[in-house]
Amino acid sequence: MSKYKDRKIGQTKLKPESMMMSYGYDPQLSEGAIKCPIFQTSTFVFKTAEDGKAFFELALGLREKGPTEALGLIYSRLNNPDLEILEDRLTLWDDGEAAAVFPSGMAAIATSLLAYLRPGDVLVHSDPVYGGTDYLLKHYLPEFGVDVIGFPAGVPIADVERSVRERVAGRRVPVILIETPANPTNDLVDIEGTVALGRSLALGDQRPVVIVDNTFLGPMFQHPLQLGADVSLYSATKFIGGHADVVAGACVGSADVIKKIKTLRTFIGTAAGPWTGWLLLRSLETLKMRMTAQMKNAQYVAAYLKDHPRIRSVNYLGLLGEDHPMYEVYRRQCTAPGSLIAFEIDGGQAEAFQFLDALQLIHLAVSLGGTESLAEHPATMTHSDVSAEDRERLGISESLVRISVGVEHFEDVIADIEQALAAVRSGPARAPRRAPAAAATP
Ligand SMILES: Cc1ncc(COP(=O)(O)O)c(C=O)c1O
Repeated sequence: MSKYKDRKIGQTKLKPESMMMSYGYDPQLSEGAIKCPIFQTSTFVFKTAEDGKAFFELALGLREKGPTEALGLIYSRLNNPDLEILEDRLTLWDDGEAAAVFPSGMAAIATSLLAYLRPGDVLVHSDPVYGGTDYLLKHYLPEFGVDVIGFPAGVPIADVERSVRERVAGRRVPVILIETPANPTNDLVDIEGTVALGRSLALGDQRPVVIVDNTFLGPMFQHPLQLGADVSLYSATKFIGGHADVVAGACVGSADVIKKIKTLRTFIGTAAGPWTGWLLLRSLETLKMRMTAQMKNAQYVAAYLKDHPRIRSVNYLGLLGEDHPMYEVYRRQCTAPGSLIAFEIDGGQAEAFQFLDALQLIHLAVSLGGTESLAEHPATMTHSDVSAEDRERLGISESLVRISVGVEHFEDVIADIEQALAAVRSGPARAPRRAPAAAATP
């Protein structure tokens, strides 16, 4: 950690969780308030016209920043203290130089992609991705003249490299977008392998920017920037927000890359507001505790599911067997298995729905990463816009259920799953077992 932020006490370099309550905030600028106030303001008063001129010159990149000069506050579509402090704190987890916050994860994705893509370009991406992302890539981007090429998650990059290169056919690829682990299957994509693939697609000295949707494991258990990626991107609605009460997004990366994304953010107006910033500042203080507790709970839940006679397969990173083709990637790029579990119930949609309707503690709702456990049916909910053919190919079956494990006591979560599985009536003949893409063995 901390190429950029080196705060130490004696010889001890402070860890991100120790800096979440203070980093980037000076109480003396806010009447001594220990917490950053909500700067609920659209615009900021300049002391002098010269100041206003200088702030605009820097914000619009009309000249380089002087050695002691700071970016001045101008207008809340450009910057706001709650957002700036939040962005500074977000850089600590991923060890990035800069960050940008958005009013949703989709705004983060759309703004980042549009900052780089132009008509005639190719976007390479892993498949599956979150249903909203899938729709943006497969329906909107082609209308703007961008050709979109997907490759499957859950397999080594060496297995897909040749076919990607053939389909790109020498065209310009400004961005590779991967989502790992993938929503909803938990399939992994090799980040370092993708960065190498990007280098091999470079035209001259122009290589693709590698954007990693790090929503499922980050910013705690996977650090894409340290593996050579350019942007670690989040639906901050999920673990970063963590309480199912705010929708937001974020990107973390090098100063150059984030500057390009933020410039477009200014002009298409996709900056988050101060209230969102304040809520996320509050959430960041407990991020490590929440993600750790949820991950520990999920390990118990996954272990219970894998032995249940009514469960056909369980995709949970903690159950990846050493013989799985992605096991080495898991060891290399993830520090813990997280708290998302995808599993198939014996039967089909009817059995999955019976299970979901019988839950008492776990809520039947989309989204993930919050304090309460949530369960959903990807094929008819988050991924219902994905074509039936793609769902079949990517393992988003009718019997697949995705659970986000919360901070409740794990025994209570398991008790709920147990009674809901018992409520599933015996369906028709048992469907054959599908070999899970990301493992159900230990
Ligand atoms: C992996 C992933 N990326 C992006 C998004 C979109 O984020 P938001 O709903 O905050 O726009 C989601 C939402 O579920 C997601 O799961």
